Amino acid sequence: MTEVFDAVDVIRAKRDRQSLSAGQIHWVVDAYTRGVVADEQMSALAMAILLNGMDRDEISRWTAAMIASGERMDFSRLSRPTSDKHSTGGVGDKITLPLAPLVAACGVAVPQLSGRGLGHTGGTLDKLESVPGWCASLSNEEMMRQLEEVGAVICAAGDGLAPADKRLYALRDVTGTVEAIPLIASSIMSKKIAEGTGALVLDVKVGSGAFMKDTESARELARTMVGLGQDAGLTTVALLTNMQTPLGLTAGNALEVRESVEVLAGGGPPDVVELTVTLAREMLAAAGRDDVDPADALRDGRAMDVWRAMIRAQGGDPDADLPVAKETHQVLAPADGVLVSLDALGVGVAAWRLGAGRARKEDRVQAGAGVEMHAKPGAEVRGGQPLLTLHTDTPDRFPRALEALEGAFQIAPEGARPGLLPLVIDRIA
Ligand code: URA
Repeated sequence: MTEVFDAVDVIRAKRDRQSLSAGQIHWVVDAYTRGVVADEQMSALAMAILLNGMDRDEISRWTAAMIASGERMDFSRLSRPTSDKHSTGGVGDKITLPLAPLVAACGVAVPQLSGRGLGHTGGTLDKLESVPGWCASLSNEEMMRQLEEVGAVICAAGDGLAPADKRLYALRDVTGTVEAIPLIASSIMSKKIAEGTGALVLDVKVGSGAFMKDTESARELARTMVGLGQDAGLTTVALLTNMQTPLGLTAGNALEVRESVEVLAGGGPPDVVELTVTLAREMLAAAGRDDVDPADALRDGRAMDVWRAMIRAQGGDPDADLPVAKETHQVLAPADGVLVSLDALGVGVAAWRLGAGRARKEDRVQAGAGVEMHAKPGAEVRGGQPLLTLHTDTPDRFPRALEALEGAFQIAPEGARPGLLPLVIDRIA
């Protein structure tokens, strides 16, 4: 096949701050997927994009080219509308688990293609795999049937979905080019658009435990993704939410499933309940169903019924005991006072080092490992009371986890008022 462009010309153009043409973008993404553009050439281009940026048209074309590299799913034959949520990733972010059945219980189907965790943020599939018997892989036909019969599916994205992104993301991971807003936005949105959902709510995390450490860059990422969704004809809304401190009281796979089930049973930590209900309202409204209140479906057990059906449909046993780690270690409050901070990154890295996450794609995770929190910022604590419980099957991991927690929490004298960010910082539509 004769190639219509030359990779070096495309790299030079972006190096020299030019806009890439539609033809150049479609060719370079396609040729990289075919193996004609080499990894070192794509790395140079990714770095040029990170340094010099892309305009809205370029990002839109780049996204379209990544979608075109694979299959596109279509749920338009379903008897109900579809809506999905994507989180940019955080510590203790188990929201998808109660959210998908909750939205399904309100009449909108949720086709959620998820990933596994890499680094300190957990992956939804790793969490669900701690439920005995549950299986992440479904064929497209099984997914469609489950969406029609149960209303919610959480499963692994097949290899056919945006294969260009799979290659490019792995390359960015090892070339210091993950943090480019055009590349993050096109990576996330190409998968969500190819997934075929009718509406999308983005949960863009801000803070130490998130990709985006400050509100301004989170807002820029959110605006870029909302623009891409709207250009593709997808109703898209983004919330900027707080990831300065972990969500809920657990970080770790089975620990987070347990907490999610508590939320579905009408209990659970207030921040997890608030974010679940807020995102459910957005997902329902984006799918044209702002006439139903998800808080009712959480309260009356309908969301729990869908959860149980969703777990069963994928071979899981919703009544089975969840795995528990073999060893625990408590971290005690050093003094009386008010817990004014509990750093998401510190807790996330500790959970990861305890075995809840993986350093390489091939690593296995420990289902029971993680961090349980006994207080959240704003709470009064007494010296000597347990602040955190660390869980692992391999106690030689405790020292490195404890190192990650050094300086990760602060206790101020009684009466101190921590300056906490709200849970939902902004909404972009
Ligand atoms: N998640 C993705 O899927 N892609 C990125 O580039 C960053 C986060």
